[in-house]
Amino acid sequence: MPNIIVIGAQWGDEGKGKVVDLVTPCADVVVRYQGGNNAGHTVVVGKEKFVLQTIPSGILHPGGRCVIGCGVVVDPASLIQEMESLVRRGVSLDGNLYISKNAHLIMPYHPALERASESKAGRRRIGTTGKGVGPAYADKAARIGIRMADLLDEALFREKLEANVFQTNRLLREIYDEETFTVESILGPYMRYAGWLAPYITDTALLLSRWIDAGGSVLFEGAQGTMLDIDHGTYPFITSSSTTAGGACTGTGIPPTKIDGIIGIAKAYCTRVGGGPFPTELTGDVAEQLATRGNEFGSVTGRPRRCGWADAVALRYAARINGFDTIALTKLDVLDACETVKVCVGYRYRGEVLTDFPEEERIWHEAEPMYEEMSGWLSETHGLTDYAALPSKAREYLDRLSELVGVPFSLVSTGAGRTETILIDDAPLARWFPALRSLLPAH
Ligand code: IMP
Repeated sequence: MPNIIVIGAQWGDEGKGKVVDLVTPCADVVVRYQGGNNAGHTVVVGKEKFVLQTIPSGILHPGGRCVIGCGVVVDPASLIQEMESLVRRGVSLDGNLYISKNAHLIMPYHPALERASESKAGRRRIGTTGKGVGPAYADKAARIGIRMADLLDEALFREKLEANVFQTNRLLREIYDEETFTVESILGPYMRYAGWLAPYITDTALLLSRWIDAGGSVLFEGAQGTMLDIDHGTYPFITSSSTTAGGACTGTGIPPTKIDGIIGIAKAYCTRVGGGPFPTELTGDVAEQLATRGNEFGSVTGRPRRCGWADAVALRYAARINGFDTIALTKLDVLDACETVKVCVGYRYRGEVLTDFPEEERIWHEAEPMYEEMSGWLSETHGLTDYAALPSKAREYLDRLSELVGVPFSLVSTGAGRTETILIDDAPLARWFPALRSLLPAH
């Protein structure tokens, strides 16, 4: 059974949650491996909408086993809220949810530190989600982070907390002139969270490895997107984790030799939320049309997303960094009302034409996109389930985009619902999961 990594190919919000939710019945386990509750995976099941932040989207399938891997940073209060809300809506967690002992904790001082540093950053403000994810990863890298397993040992937890609170308070007071924390105000609630979460905390790397050895199929659910990766994204306007394929291995403890395939998820256009370079960003009527038709508002923060045309240069880069075998293209129907559709095929920078995504920040800010323009299809694709039923101009757009990126498409999403999906026969996804065809309406 295949072990497949699902990766955001752009700046996040590509619709990974929908694809993972769709494929989950064909897999045995879904594992999150990076990020934290900065993510918001929206899944529509029938008439119900779920927004998952830390728990893998796979939890929405009865009996679906879900793992929060060691590469994730967990805000326990937010996780417990998410768990309670799922249970209230009839989703079972017992025996279905496993949390790595090595996952780091987001502590109350992390969002405070982030707010303080963002408020002083001026034009270099990142526009974070404000969840404390960056400072939590900073503590992890500085080797002062507190992990899930520490929650289960009060004395050790207190020792680490005391050292961190001492250090953080100095920063908050002396550098940022902000309110400070006391050990006791954190210890009490965190020990209560420990009681709640203890049954779920375990050695997930060992469990995953045993399940794989027994023939199980694991889906690695990425959060955010390639261009937000700490090493390969548009640094420093990025998130603080490894959002690319390598992160799936380090963030779970599963070696690269166990991975059978990698699927990139990309929107038919492109969005970005927060600050930082976005070469194909649009303003004006077309941007507004994409934002409205695509309901482009952050699922965690509600912030409006910046919208632009698909960027084949950035997508080709994502394909190279991640090694995509295939791509699932989402939200095709959002382009239905566009008279023309454009794809960026290169950047113009100081008289030069660049066709490889550059690594320098100054270029991203100045690069001017060069577009290939196609006439739009101006007819409804919403809800279509058959590739052959797509307007010929929509097919031409898909074919050209796939050609420019150099990766075959496996799936085209034409709406938020599970079944509003075109599965492309003989493409990698249908080959990895033959049962997927039977889960979608016949065409
Ligand atoms: P952080 O992850 O909260 O530190 O935010 C860093 C950057 O990543 C900001 O530009 C955020 O808007 C962006 N970001 C974080 N999580 C997501 C996500 O799930 N979707 C899209 N953008 C995100």
